[in-house]
Amino acid sequence: MNTHKGSEWWRHAVIYQVYPRSWADSDGDGLGDLPGITGRLDHLVELGVDALWLSPFYPSPQADAGYDVADYRNVDPIFGQLEDADKLIGEAHSRGLKLIVDLVPNHTSSAHAWFQEALVAEKGSPARNRYVFRDGKGANGDEPPNDWSAVFGGSAWQRITEPDGTPGQWYLHLFDPAQPDLNWDNPEIRADFVTTLRFWLDRGVDGFRVDVAHGLIKQRDLANWEYPIHGATGDGVEGRRAPMWDQDEVHEVYRQWRAVLDEYEGERILVAEAWVQPAERLAAYVRPDEMHQAFNFEYLEAHWTAPDQHSVISRSLAANDSVGAPTTWVLSNHDVLRHASRLGLPVGTPRPDGIGIGDAQPDPVLGLRRGRAATLLMLSLPGGAYLYQGEELGLPEHMTMPDEARQDPTWERSSHERRGRDGCRVPIPWEADAPSYGFGPTDASWLPQPRLWAEYALDRQRGVAGSTYELYRETLRRRRELGLGSGELIWHDSTGNSVLSFTNGGVRVLTNFGPDEVTLPEGAEVVLTSHPLETAGVVPSDVTVWLRA
Ligand code: GLC
Repeated sequence: MNTHKGSEWWRHAVIYQVYPRSWADSDGDGLGDLPGITGRLDHLVELGVDALWLSPFYPSPQADAGYDVADYRNVDPIFGQLEDADKLIGEAHSRGLKLIVDLVPNHTSSAHAWFQEALVAEKGSPARNRYVFRDGKGANGDEPPNDWSAVFGGSAWQRITEPDGTPGQWYLHLFDPAQPDLNWDNPEIRADFVTTLRFWLDRGVDGFRVDVAHGLIKQRDLANWEYPIHGATGDGVEGRRAPMWDQDEVHEVYRQWRAVLDEYEGERILVAEAWVQPAERLAAYVRPDEMHQAFNFEYLEAHWTAPDQHSVISRSLAANDSVGAPTTWVLSNHDVLRHASRLGLPVGTPRPDGIGIGDAQPDPVLGLRRGRAATLLMLSLPGGAYLYQGEELGLPEHMTMPDEARQDPTWERSSHERRGRDGCRVPIPWEADAPSYGFGPTDASWLPQPRLWAEYALDRQRGVAGSTYELYRETLRRRRELGLGSGELIWHDSTGNSVLSFTNGGVRVLTNFGPDEVTLPEGAEVVLTSHPLETAGVVPSDVTVWLRA
């Protein structure tokens, strides 16, 4: 048992999400890969983050962009080989960067050997018992076992054909039919995931981002739910918790994993992707003997108003403080509209799941202005923070992608009602004048890049005063220098309902959410601003400033 507390680097770390399909393509096939990532690690050093998290790169039919894993202990040839993963881990460490990988325990791919075995095995067999197989309802068993819908659309149940050719049992898939849910009541599954943890820990990874961490255990009776399924707990529905999310028994799994991680040197971490609300329920995932961090999606979803931001920040800090865990902050990832576009939608309106041709378009100028203000605010908060690749370039969502190019299963599964998440997954522009904007050596790109992306390319922003990239660098540098990640937040009285203001260590932070300018106190020393102040001492709308405290 490793009882040494160490630096607890994760309590204040800034962790950068690399989406391997879209970061850097070394071989020109239009799909990013591990050697591509290794080749661009210096970018992360220059940017000034502490760690990277990689979305899945394991063997997979890619029905859900790799979140459908066919083999947890290998690398898909489209991304490289196991040796490329070893090299990437080593090169990251030699630059002082920690590296976290994605673990997808709620479901496997339907191509996983276990599922293929289950399909040809008998009803009630050990092979079927690795998944959630049930008989259908109705006289001929031709109705699904319950009324649950899948997150991507349609029923959460799929009927199989038995080996003898007769219509057979149904299996549960909370996401795509190509992602059958595992049966976490089966000890064999638990043991096998510990083997996977050790496999990657032995190779040197610094931890795991745990996909759909709130979904592993289902209410035993698989009771009907009556409501549409969302990633979230359903706490908003008559105060009831949905039977497929956030069941108390799920915590046993993470206690066991934590004990495994603690055997290893060097503070390896677990991060929960758990769309659980309210903050108090989420905090249960980061109790001292469970995970280290959980993504704060309530913060990501909060509206751009001073009262909403004040309330989510206070509640998040209080809930995590109560269990001794650091709070995390996140504005973008591979599942949501990029915040430089999301914040350009009218405040308080519902956020669509993807935007396409013919949809109401956000205001790009306002979006970027608010996006920068939001980032400067986020990076001044105590705790850990997550950045998503491309946000340091102020990258917007691709909002005019032709529907034929879409790959997210959401688009088809929702019968074209929701466009899905492709718009935030487009390959990154590194060089304005290179093929595929420098994503790879050729023009190939698995999702089309918008024509106007040259202006966002890294080489157009590097060294350019006032660029979004330089704002991120400067913010991260000062955040580190001032120790803001391990600081403490003290609120100031706000001016009416439109200003948020607090002190963290040596910095006083002020964000103006309102339409009117805010005049700074006499003698205030401005350290950083998300937008240049046209009149000294006057903070316009949608701008964050750091003042010397
Ligand atoms: C998580 C991932 C998402 C994926 C889903 C199913 O929410 O972030 O991309 O589609 O799980 O694995």
